[in-house]
Amino acid sequence: MDTTCTRIALGTIILHLLLMGLSYLSIAEVIYSPDELLSINCGSSSNFSTRDGRNWTVDINFLTVESRINSVAAPALTPTTLMGPYTYARLSHSQFTYSFPVTAGPKFLRLFFYSTSYQNFDRTNAYFSVKFGPYTYTLLQDFNASLNADVDNDPGQPDILFREYCINIGEGERLDITFIPTITAQHQHSYAFINGIEIVSMSPYLYYTNPDDYTGVPQIVGTLSQYPIENSSALETIYRLNVAGKDITGSEDTGMLRTWKADDNYLTTQSTMSVDFGRITKLSFNMTQNYTAPDEVYRTVRNMGTNGSMNMRFNLTWQLPVDSGFTYLLRLHFCQLDPHVSLSGDLRFSIYIADQLGTDWADVLLWTYNRKGVPVVRDYVVSYIPGNREKTNLSLKMHPHHKSRIKDAQLNAIELFKISDTSCSLADPNPHLLPQPPNNTISNKKSNGTTSTIIAAVAGAVSGVVLLFFIAILIKHRKNVAVNESSNKKEGTSRNNGSLSVPTDLCRHFSIEEMRAATNNFDKVFVVGMGGFGNVYKGHIDNGSTTVAIKRLKQGSRQGIREFKNEIEMLSQLHHPNIVSLIGYCYESNEMILVYEFMDCGNLRDHLYDTDNPYLSWKHRLQTCIGVARGLDYLHTGVKQVIIHRDVKSANILLDEKWEAKVSDFGLARIGGPMGISMMTTRVNTEVKGSIGYLDPEYYKRNILTEKSDVYSFGVVLLEVLSGRQPLLHWEEKQRMSLVKWAEHCYEKGILSEIVDPELKGQIVPQCLRKFGEVALSCLLEDGTQRPSMKDIVGMLDLVLQLQDSAVNYEDSSSHSTVPLSDCSENTGLSTTSDGDGSYGRMESFVLIPDDVFSETKNPKRR
Ligand SMILES: *[C@@H]1O[C@H](CO)[C@@H](O)[C@H](O)[C@H]1NC(C)=O
Ligand SMILES: *[C@@H]1O[C@H](CO)[C@@H](O)[C@H](O)[C@H]1NC(C)=O
Ligand SMILES: *[C@@H]1O[C@H](CO)[C@@H](O)[C@H](O)[C@H]1NC(C)=O
Ligand SMILES: *[C@@H]1O[C@H](CO)[C@@H](O)[C@H](O)[C@H]1NC(C)=O
Ligand SMILES: *[C@@H]1O[C@H](CO)[C@@H](O)[C@H](O)[C@H]1NC(C)=O
Repeated sequence: MDTTCTRIALGTIILHLLLMGLSYLSIAEVIYSPDELLSINCGSSSNFSTRDGRNWTVDINFLTVESRINSVAAPALTPTTLMGPYTYARLSHSQFTYSFPVTAGPKFLRLFFYSTSYQNFDRTNAYFSVKFGPYTYTLLQDFNASLNADVDNDPGQPDILFREYCINIGEGERLDITFIPTITAQHQHSYAFINGIEIVSMSPYLYYTNPDDYTGVPQIVGTLSQYPIENSSALETIYRLNVAGKDITGSEDTGMLRTWKADDNYLTTQSTMSVDFGRITKLSFNMTQNYTAPDEVYRTVRNMGTNGSMNMRFNLTWQLPVDSGFTYLLRLHFCQLDPHVSLSGDLRFSIYIADQLGTDWADVLLWTYNRKGVPVVRDYVVSYIPGNREKTNLSLKMHPHHKSRIKDAQLNAIELFKISDTSCSLADPNPHLLPQPPNNTISNKKSNGTTSTIIAAVAGAVSGVVLLFFIAILIKHRKNVAVNESSNKKEGTSRNNGSLSVPTDLCRHFSIEEMRAATNNFDKVFVVGMGGFGNVYKGHIDNGSTTVAIKRLKQGSRQGIREFKNEIEMLSQLHHPNIVSLIGYCYESNEMILVYEFMDCGNLRDHLYDTDNPYLSWKHRLQTCIGVARGLDYLHTGVKQVIIHRDVKSANILLDEKWEAKVSDFGLARIGGPMGISMMTTRVNTEVKGSIGYLDPEYYKRNILTEKSDVYSFGVVLLEVLSGRQPLLHWEEKQRMSLVKWAEHCYEKGILSEIVDPELKGQIVPQCLRKFGEVALSCLLEDGTQRPSMKDIVGMLDLVLQLQDSAVNYEDSSSHSTVPLSDCSENTGLSTTSDGDGSYGRMESFVLIPDDVFSETKNPKRR
């Protein structure tokens, strides 16, 4: 029985029925209407329209005054039959500039060239650079148009060269494009020319990262780190492919005049199947904006064909030629319309990009919460393709997951962009018509060899490093709550070269030079975590012998000098296997940097939910909880004074390479009163701090702070571990919104198994679940004095583990055994510390006013 076979057949039938019945529907729905849409016909003196939906207008008004004099308009000597701005060109032997008054924001900038001879300008002398201001991005460098046209021999469009860029215009800036002929001793007749320029505004976060929404940030392949596409980057479109579909012209796009090409030329797998699901299901754009791509893109899909389990033997592969030496952004579009796939888990596959793992948990229905017909995109960054700008292939491979019910993989569309390099350039060298002699290329490589290998090595080292990416969601929000943080602010602003009394004798002091050396001058490649506080880098100190996590606080982050000092003072006195170790700090040149031991497996939260990491088994979860309980017990009873952590949450629990749990982030920790005596704090001078969802009600309602507040937060962590969900889910029905309330409800009704993480199905023995629930709920008692101490909790959790072990050993242990997590760096990778800013929602406020605790449900937007 081959399900794949029937599945495809059905899809095809549906397709035919639908195409027959519904072909009258127009495809060109303009969904996005750009603020600016300028199509300039350079060198022409009349306006005209083309069938692709463009209205071409004359260029003279956009040329700077000087450029009007310096340049000429001339007709092409060999007219092309192609429609477009190709009859005339603007040309010059000296530099000329177009200057467009445009609104601020991201734009498509498109350049159209027709490589031919123009009056008095020989085809082969076109040799020039193109720059875009005001930061002088280089779009083309010493560009030999005829050579590029000869090599890029598209029979459909002979001698036409087209380039598309994404650029950002700042407030009050003009969009200036300058064409500069490359005049040298050998090439004295060089000139620059252009036939058409197009400027189309795009929606702000179509490709650029929305700083307020960390969920869609591109992932760096081979790692779980993320790479925001910042406004300062320019992008060049390299491919936009409608997988398994046909070419889509500008007029059929969603309003931004993008063209989509068929993918056939890049596919290297023989056995694939394209399926068109037609219009049976209306697409619902819940996960992406409806202008992300035309509907048509999502209705055609390519998969591995009707091979059934044979599909396990090969990869569905595309090879995309690119220039080496750049970083690329790859966007993959998916939409599940297949009638045979109905639940997440039915069709799950791995994605490899440039032979590195993008994800081994691609599951479209998982991403769309089991909703069909919902388009979704996944963005990946290929951090650096080693090489010296020569052409190489970027591969995209997909492979069915061995656990998938249907052994297949699928894709709807590909977009690939080159990201401007550190010198703001996107330019590639001119192609070679003849292959260069090999010794020549070797010497070329050498000249740039050091940089390439270093970066490649680093990319390798970082690969398998999990992310902790919590973008600076709070920055904006903080302004509203900042009243309570005024003390931070005051201190924060006076921060400079160590004039404040940071304790110098407590732990190692690093110079800023050492920090730069450890991170290759804070190279983005080393970033393993980001957040409102700044970045966390993976670094190497002591001549590379020690790997460390380097947390570089950024100015204006919520972590002010007070938290910085607090963390150094607290952590340098604490030594316990379940407390993260501080190695040292750097405080100079306006920098506040903390150096910790490196934790290979990242934080606990990233192994529980919203993650591509393999899930932790129940036993690992129990062991982690016991480790955390031991660490907290040490804080409460193991040192001279009671230390109250105040921010216990799954994002602040780190896991080392042996999966040992360590408590981190002591920015908020406080010395408490004597054990068991509460610290009554007055509202006037103490703000309630912590994270929503974990806050002890006694603390936020009555300002009573004792070590039992940590016990409460730990109880929330226990429930997170059991349920695999976050403490507050705004979109859940009321009863289930708060994990604590829901768990209490289920516990009372004797149906605690309802909250158990589906991933743990069959792993927890009933008596163990009962006991675990009892421990968790005792931590959550309203009255702090009734809650157990951490020492009691350690004892109770040890018992839970014994219950689990003995029951499992008694039965057949194999039925409960789960994937051993021996080496996280292999399959998950990891990272370091983070203070978990924004770790589970955009409004996770840091400073709370008691009555507001649950009012953040007003901000349901999360994904
Ligand atoms: C696209 O979405 C916008 C708002 O998200 C909505 O106003 C518009 O009607 C939608 N257009 C189509 C064609 O669905
Ligand atoms: C071309 O169109 C532009 C704007 O649409 C207009 O300002 C200009 O006068 C037109 N020029 C000619 C020659 O028709
Ligand atoms: C071109 O002009 C026509 C007529 O003025 C207008 O209907 C159409 O929307 C314009 N197209 C674009 C892409 O601006
Ligand atoms: C550009 O390429 C042409 C071949 O198309 C060649 O004849 C010409 O010399 C090249 N110009 C430069 C400056 O390399
Ligand atoms: C699929 O591609 C990945 C990445 O290159 C490779 O590791 C794997 O062996 C390939 N699988 C098959 C079956 O070819």
